[in-house]
Amino acid sequence: MTLSDPDFAAVVLEANLAPSVHNTQPTRWLRVSEAEVRVRDVAERHLAIGDPTGRDAGVSHGAAIEGFVLACSAREIAATVSPSSNLSAGDVARITLSGGAAPDPLQPYVHVRRTYRGRFVPAAPNALDRIAEDRDVVVVRAKDGIAHVAAVYDTASLSSFRDQAFRAELLSWMRLSRQDPRWTRDGLNAQAMEMSGFEAAGAGVVLRPGVFEALDRLGVTAGFVAEAKVVCSAAGILLFHRPADESPLETGRRYYRLWLSITQSGLSAAPMAVLADDPKAASEMARSFSLPTGRRLITALRVGRAPERTLPPKPRLPVEELIG
Ligand SMILES: Cc1cc2nc3c(=O)[nH]c(=O)nc-3n(C[C@H](O)[C@H](O)[C@H](O)COP(=O)(O)O)c2cc1C
Repeated sequence: MTLSDPDFAAVVLEANLAPSVHNTQPTRWLRVSEAEVRVRDVAERHLAIGDPTGRDAGVSHGAAIEGFVLACSAREIAATVSPSSNLSAGDVARITLSGGAAPDPLQPYVHVRRTYRGRFVPAAPNALDRIAEDRDVVVVRAKDGIAHVAAVYDTASLSSFRDQAFRAELLSWMRLSRQDPRWTRDGLNAQAMEMSGFEAAGAGVVLRPGVFEALDRLGVTAGFVAEAKVVCSAAGILLFHRPADESPLETGRRYYRLWLSITQSGLSAAPMAVLADDPKAASEMARSFSLPTGRRLITALRVGRAPERTLPPKPRLPVEELIG
């Protein structure tokens, strides 16, 4: 069983709808034979400051690979993934195609899922029941528990924003104006960050070197970074954990499936990765919410019901740039 050229392009586009850190889209796809696809990494799209070990890039590859497998399943093609041992050469994995897959029930949600960073509207009391059955999550539903997560999140966020290099890198992936030619291509545009034009222009100034430090001395940056109101509007916080020694690729595949199952439940989510990346925040989460031992907190996701609205297509690279 093989993919035709148009089908390969369609599968690649669908795979690229997966989440990636800062929407960097670091994964490339090369067809080496009729039944084999080589998955490649673009090192220039890694976050040298925010992700020095490349783990987030690896998780992003894993999510994209799961997206590829899901897209193949909808075409009744089985895609078998073999992680590459030659990561330094830019090889991530090989995918072998064969016939006879059953369509994966999560695949239709690939086209619906997106990060929602705004305030949630009230959800049904049992909205999280199905997700709570997942063995990889601890669900925080109590109001005081959610408020505690929000407070730890704001403290950890402020500490990362105090790092000038981190801010500069984040700013380089922010698309704060619709005039930016990259608005529809990659990174985080103001609309995806739920910022008005005014807020986006303000963020561009506040994050600048010198400006943030001056505002910090005045004690006003905590208010700028704070997201507690948004976090506290969530129906719950999911603490997603996986075996401590798991490869980023496998973690990314599971991460994407969890997120799609949230979408399947009619809910939306936004990751709060700093809660896992900041050692103090991560140990506070583990302590407060009794995360099982031997597991790594991958991320915390705030989850809830997003308001009904029509959204534009997600910013993504064109298919020609994803193949090769
Ligand atoms: C490893 C990883 C870490 C992420 N961390 C965050 C985060 O801390 N905050 C956030 O708002 N989004 C985070 N995201 C979500 C991405 O920014 C998002 O997937 C990307 O912008 C593409 O948008 P989409 O999810 O709507 O397709 C993360 C995604 C991945 C894969």
